[in-house]
Amino acid sequence: MKHPIGIVKGTFDVLPHETKKDELWKESFRWTYVEQVLRTTAIKYGFHEIRTPILEPTELFERSVGESSDIVSKEMYTLSDRKGRSLSLRPEGTASVSRAFISNRLYAIPGIHKFFYIGPMFRYERPQAGRYRQLHQFGVEAIGTIHPYQDAELIDLMHQVYQKLGLKDLCISINSVGDLPSRAAYRTALSKYLMPYRKLLSEDSQIRLDKNVLRILDSKLPQDQEVLKNAPLIDEYLSTSAKNHFQTVLNILDDLNIPYQIDPKLVRGLDYYSNTVFEITSGQLGAQNAIGAGGRYDGLIASLGGPDLPATGFAIGIDRLLQTMLKQEVYFPKPPTLDLVLIPMDAQSSQSAFKLASELRHRDIAVQVDLSGKKIQCGLKLANLIEAKAIAIIGQNELTSGKITCKKLATSESHTFSMEHLIDNLKGWLYA
Ligand code: HAM
Repeated sequence: MKHPIGIVKGTFDVLPHETKKDELWKESFRWTYVEQVLRTTAIKYGFHEIRTPILEPTELFERSVGESSDIVSKEMYTLSDRKGRSLSLRPEGTASVSRAFISNRLYAIPGIHKFFYIGPMFRYERPQAGRYRQLHQFGVEAIGTIHPYQDAELIDLMHQVYQKLGLKDLCISINSVGDLPSRAAYRTALSKYLMPYRKLLSEDSQIRLDKNVLRILDSKLPQDQEVLKNAPLIDEYLSTSAKNHFQTVLNILDDLNIPYQIDPKLVRGLDYYSNTVFEITSGQLGAQNAIGAGGRYDGLIASLGGPDLPATGFAIGIDRLLQTMLKQEVYFPKPPTLDLVLIPMDAQSSQSAFKLASELRHRDIAVQVDLSGKKIQCGLKLANLIEAKAIAIIGQNELTSGKITCKKLATSESHTFSMEHLIDNLKGWLYA
């Protein structure tokens, strides 16, 4: 036997059934359910679905997420195509949606543009619990308004999603990274404070000190945290308009009774943010505890060659969302099941069963014919395993009499139908 080919490190399969107790979040019916809740909630808030390619020009992420960000400098899956063009698997969705917005000249349509997306992203990170190289995000982006109401609406949407999914004890952290002048002033102050401590910082943070000092605030390493203890905070450097913007967002959240906490050190690891930034964490996820995050990115569309339009958005990691849901033992609907399993006893009955199944499916009845050719007991076992509603055996007796007996598995109740009545009456009997 040839050796089997394994799965790429940091990726996983989403399967119909999963037997390992702590990996039930990989079951496909759970993904379908969560995606359905995400979709319908986004639509209620006026967002429309957008689907962009997984492959984009590398330059798109260099110019948006930022060349010095961890994502671009260390984590992108980049390849050269046959003509030598540098392409990358998208590490996130905001840059792609902005690119699509510009490429398709959607700005020609007046008004606020509200998009949502669901799909895989790729980051070459060190895999660990909750951190994958192919991760899955649900994201929303609202382009065209500077209004703080838009930021608050996004946080409200994120909060609604968690409530609809029955999640508890999540923490919303929020901060403002200010507008460009506020950030420039803060950057100077932070560099000035950190320079004398250069040698005490981690190797990565020493590089960040020269390239992008704000990134040091993202570090979770104790040696960096120690140096940062007395560092200046960004709120002291916010311009009046940035302060007002932030305060209005907080006022609206208060008005909506959405709990949050201000985290003055939250700056986020992507370059494009301005003003509001936020993150949602769960105490149940260990080190990788962010379920979702986002913020305003007012300069991004212009920096990618589009018109100067403000924008704001967030993304939720669906993988982590599902893991938290299972840890919190929230409600999941039952997986879809079959209405009927038909068990034929010989070749001739198989042919009739197959035709009957096709006719029933045309009437929206979910049917499977047990084509395994094994004993009736095997067919029954299969029907029980998938929790089918009913079974019916078709053999020579049924073919000669033109009658077929269906049996409900849960109650053992049975009913004999004539073949011609079965198609019209089965559904009524099953769901009576
Ligand atoms: P991000 O913070 O890089 O933001 O990712 C958002 C969420 O994706 C995280 O909070 C986390 O739940 C999930 N995530 C990120 N990396 C991984 C990973 N390696 N494994 C599992 N889950 C992961 C963005 O991507 C921005 N584009 C969000 C945004 C939209 N900002 C404005 N609009």
